[in-house]
Amino acid sequence: MKEKLVFATHNKNKLAEIRNILKNYEVVGLRDIGCETDIVEDGDNLQDNAKIKADFVTNNYHLNCFADDTGLEVEALDGAPGVYSARYAGEGCSYHDNVVKLLAAMKGIKNRKARFRTVIALNLNGKQYFFEGIVNGRILEEEQGNGGFGYDPIFQPDGYEESFAEMSMEEKNKISHRGRAVQKLVEFLQVRS
Ligand code: IMP
Repeated sequence: MKEKLVFATHNKNKLAEIRNILKNYEVVGLRDIGCETDIVEDGDNLQDNAKIKADFVTNNYHLNCFADDTGLEVEALDGAPGVYSARYAGEGCSYHDNVVKLLAAMKGIKNRKARFRTVIALNLNGKQYFFEGIVNGRILEEEQGNGGFGYDPIFQPDGYEESFAEMSMEEKNKISHRGRAVQKLVEFLQVRS
C-alpha cells in the first residue's frame, strides 16, 4: 500500500502536478482529508508560512504533510513584495492589481533584478524538513504574454527572451522556483522509498 502524504493546498492544479510526479505516494489535498479551513498564513517569512500550513495538518489530523509558500523578491524594493506577494495590492486584490502596483513601484527604476523563491516544509514521521527553489530574473517594463498566473506576465527569467506568461507550463515548471523546490522534495522522498 502506498504511504499517504497530504499536500496542504486547496489548489487542484498544484495537486495534480505533484500527483503526477510523486507516484510512489498517495498524495491527497486538504479537501480529501475533510479540511475546509483556510489556514491563516500570518508568518513573517516564507519558511514560517510553509511551516504553519504543514503543522496545522500534522497537529490536527496526525498525518504526514508538506506545504509550500512562494514570494517574488525584488532587489530594488528591498525584497518586496516577498511574503506579501499574494496581497501586495491589498486584501482580496486580483493578480492583475498586484501587477499594476508592482509596475508603478518600479517606474523609472533601472535595477530590475528579482527572484521567485519557494519554500516547502515537510513533516514526515515526527521530523521536519525544508526545501527551497529559486529562479532569478528581472521585472519587465510592461506585461508580456497571456499564460500562467500571478506576476508571470512581468517576470522574465535570466537567460530567456520570454516572460513566464509566454512559456508553456512544462517549460516554466522545468526552471521555476516551485519546480525546483518540488524537485528537491521528490529527490528526498525517492531516496527514502
Ligand atoms: P503561493 O504561496 O503559491 O500561494 O504564492 C503566493 C503568491 O505569489 C501568489 O498569489 C502569486 O501572486 C505569486 N506567485 C506564486 N507563484 C507564482 C508563479 O509561478 N508565477 C507568478 N506569480 C506567482
